[in-house]
Amino acid sequence: MPTQEIVDVKKENIVVVGTQWGDEGKGKIVDVLAKDVGTVVRFQGGNNAGHTLVVDGEKIVLHLVPSGILNNNTKCVVGNGVVVDPVVFMGELDALKVGGRSVQPRSLVVSSSAHVVLPYHQMLDKCRELSRGGDAIGTTGKGIGPAYEDKVARRGVRMLEFVNPEMFRAKLELLLPEKNRMLSEWFGAEPFTVDGIIESTRDAAERIAPFVNDSIGLVHRAVTECTGVLFEGAQGTFLDIDHGTYPFVTSSNTVAGSACAGSGVGPRYINQVVGITKAYTTRVGAGPFPTELTGEIGETMRAVGQEFGATTGRPRRCGWFDAELVRYASIVNGLTQVALTKLDVLSGLPTLKICTGYKGLTSFPGSAAEMEGAVPIYEEMAGWSEDISGCRTIEELPETCLAYVSRIQELIGIKIGVLSVGPGRKENIAVSSLFKE
Ligand code: GDP
Ligand code: IMO
Ligand code: MG
Repeated sequence: MPTQEIVDVKKENIVVVGTQWGDEGKGKIVDVLAKDVGTVVRFQGGNNAGHTLVVDGEKIVLHLVPSGILNNNTKCVVGNGVVVDPVVFMGELDALKVGGRSVQPRSLVVSSSAHVVLPYHQMLDKCRELSRGGDAIGTTGKGIGPAYEDKVARRGVRMLEFVNPEMFRAKLELLLPEKNRMLSEWFGAEPFTVDGIIESTRDAAERIAPFVNDSIGLVHRAVTECTGVLFEGAQGTFLDIDHGTYPFVTSSNTVAGSACAGSGVGPRYINQVVGITKAYTTRVGAGPFPTELTGEIGETMRAVGQEFGATTGRPRRCGWFDAELVRYASIVNGLTQVALTKLDVLSGLPTLKICTGYKGLTSFPGSAAEMEGAVPIYEEMAGWSEDISGCRTIEELPETCLAYVSRIQELIGIKIGVLSVGPGRKENIAVSSLFKE
C-alpha cells in the first residue's frame, strides 16, 4: 500500500463525506481527525443523520451535534446549511450532560441562518410518506424534506427568528394558514395552532438561544488563521438530491461541494476531501441497490456489522462492495483519499465479491429507474477467517485481506488513507500521515 506525502493536519481544511448511501462510519472518522483540528462544522442535513462514536467503550450517537464534541479543544459549529430541530438538539445536549459532558456555548455554535425544523414539517413528512403508499421513499420521518422545501420556497424560519419570540410568532401567523390547509384538506390531518407550536418549542427556544450566533465569521476566521477545520458531511453521495438515486434521496446536497455553501467558506480553502467508504455496501430506506444480498450472507453482514439505523433502528439492507458506485463518488466529490471502514465485519466470509461495473452500461446510471435495472459484474476474491480488529499495521493483516483492500484501491483509483477495523477510536490502521498519531 502506498503511503502519502507528509501533511500538517492542523493546517488542513478537510471535508469528510460518505461515498455510498450513508452510515459509512463518518462519525467515527471525524472523531478521530477532530483531535488535530480547531473546528468541526456540520454543513447539511439534520437529525436524519445518526453518527456513532465509541470512546473508551462508551457508545454515543449524535444527530445534530458535530462529531468533534468529545474533543475538549475543538469548537463545534452547526452550519447555515443544516436544518435544526431545536427540541432534538437540546435533547442531545441533555443526553451528553447525563453522560458527564456539559456542553457550553463557547464550544458549540448554531448558525443564526440555519433553518428550523418545526412540528408541521414532521407531520408533513409522515403524511407524504403515507400517501405515497408502495412508492414511499422510506424517509426517517424527521421532517427534513419539508424543512428544506420551505427554505428553498422562501417560507422557512431561521434560527435568528426562532429565538426571538415576537419574530417567531409573526412568522408562524404568516406561514401556518397554508400549512394547515394542506394538512387538513389534502391529508386529513389535525391542524396546528400558533400557540400550540410556540408552547411545544418554547423551552427549546429559550435554551438554544445562547448557542445561536454568527457562524460565518467564526468559520472564516478558522480557515484564514489556519487552525484546521473539518467539514462533517451527513448521509452519503447516493442520497444527494442531485447526484443520488433520485427520487430515493434526501433533500440536501451531500457531496463535498456542499461544504462551502453550507458553512460560508470559499472552495479555495479546502485542502482535502476524505471519502468514508464501507468495505461492503448498506442502504436504509427504499431505492435501487444493485449489489444487495437478500439471503444469508446479507443477514450475516447485518448481524456482524450491527447494521441497524442509528436514527430509526431500521435494519440496513446489506450487499457486496460496489466499486462502480465509489468510483463515481470519487468524481463528484473530488476525493483526495478514502477511509475504508468496517473491514473487520468481513472476517469469516469464505469468498468476497466486488462489483466492478454494470452489464451493458457505459455510463453511470443517472436515475433510480436506470440503476434499478443495473446488473453487477462481479469479481470473486478469497476471504479471510482471522479476527483483524487487533491489527494496527498493514503487515499484520492476512494476505487475502490485504489483497481485497488493494483491489478496492485499484478499482476506485483513490488512495486509502486509513483502514478502520473496529468501532473504537483506536481501532485503525493508519496509512496516510493524516491518520497517523
Ligand atoms: P455514520 O452515519 O457514517 O457516522 O455511521 P453510523 O454511526 O450510522 O454507522 C456506522 C456504525 O458502524 C456505527 O455503529 C459505528 O460505531 C460502527 N463502526 C464504525 N467503524 C467501524 C469499523 O471499522 N468496524 C466496526 N465493526 N464497526 C464500525
Ligand atoms: P447518516 O448521516 C442513512 C435516508 C433515509 C431515506 C432517505 C430520505 O447517518 O449517514 P430523509 O429523512 O433524509 O428525507 O430520508 O435518506 N437517510 C439516511 N440513510 N444514513 C443517513 O444519515 C441518512 N439520512 C437519511 O433512510 O432513504
Ligand atoms: Mg448514520
